[in-house]
Amino acid sequence: MAITSTLVSKLPSVGTTIFTKMSALAVEKGAINLSQGFPDFPPDVRLLERASQAILTGNNQYAPMTGLPLLREAIASVIERHYSRRVSALDEITVTSGASEAIFDAIAAFVHQGDEVVLFDPAYDLYEPAVTLAGGICRRVTLLAPDFRPDWQAFAELLNDKTRLVLINTPHNPTGSCWLAEDVDALWQAIASRDIYVLSDEVYEFIHFGESAVSVHQHAELAKRSLVVSSFGKSFHLTGWKVGYIVAPTALTAELRKVHQFVSFCTATPLQQALAEHLLALPGASAGLAAFYQQKRDVLRNALVASRFTLLPCEGTYFQLLDYSAISDLDDVAFCEWLIDQVGVAAIPVSVFYQQPPKDQRLIRLCFAKEERTLLEAARRLAQL
Ligand SMILES: Cc1ncc(COP(=O)(O)O)c(C=O)c1O
Repeated sequence: MAITSTLVSKLPSVGTTIFTKMSALAVEKGAINLSQGFPDFPPDVRLLERASQAILTGNNQYAPMTGLPLLREAIASVIERHYSRRVSALDEITVTSGASEAIFDAIAAFVHQGDEVVLFDPAYDLYEPAVTLAGGICRRVTLLAPDFRPDWQAFAELLNDKTRLVLINTPHNPTGSCWLAEDVDALWQAIASRDIYVLSDEVYEFIHFGESAVSVHQHAELAKRSLVVSSFGKSFHLTGWKVGYIVAPTALTAELRKVHQFVSFCTATPLQQALAEHLLALPGASAGLAAFYQQKRDVLRNALVASRFTLLPCEGTYFQLLDYSAISDLDDVAFCEWLIDQVGVAAIPVSVFYQQPPKDQRLIRLCFAKEERTLLEAARRLAQL
């Protein structure tokens, strides 16, 4: 019809995401769903009670655009507690509708037409479409299995006068790798003399299994150039609440808020109220998260150790990568479809996170934010291959 013949997509190569596709297939075939990254266990009941109370006691109108002051104060305390960084709740923290909105707002605010944005491949699927919509161009540094460490030489070679933003993610989805302090230093060394900002996606900040996770919050100079994103969805098993936040120096925050006020204006008031009260009552609430997920990771890894899958290192997040080269020659998308159909387990093919997947790489991603019995049954099925 006339409308479709004139409709030119701004995102012609974007279709339904693989997460939606695999989750729908998992439901259709009754498979165990270890594909999409969400917990199958409930959040802390006290948080749910606080949210119900917040609704029943009248916290149901628009929140302030920047977020409830009580919540921003609580976030500032969390950052000070974990990273010894003092940020202004008034001018440097903005509550958003999930980390997704924060990332989208930041890219829209800082990327101009023709600007270049450096990403590390594989990358979370939201980054590139957001850059494209802003008129920017993505340049990618490939991270290679098994450890997926950044190649700082290749990174430095990509930088030029058009580079405006570097998008980083640690702990990293989908690989489960975590940056070291030397990576943060290397990033700073490479960009220090240039007019470049950093958007640091740290939604899995509390889910790391090594000594300590590094954060941009800990690097005083880099932090002055950076916007750091976090998500209560990941830290409190509440992915459906879509409450996140972004921390940046005052001047950057002012620009970011210009976009945020027109994208969502504000985030659900009773959910913010509940999170604020929860953080005030239990300031160390996230401290046990790493041990909680490490136990789940180990249950899954131990149950698969004798299988024909090769387990890649998993230092953080709630994702475990498996190499299936010993089992099948199928490409990873076909292998995941076959797994759902024949084995009853849904996973995510890792190639979808790459612009140019490394040739012959055969990796799938499993989410272990699941009840132990779910993980054990999935592993039992996979171990039979
Ligand atoms: C790396 C990464 N960034 C951002 C997000 C989005 O977080 P939110 O659900 O808070 O929007 C996710 C969710 O899976 C993620 O894995």
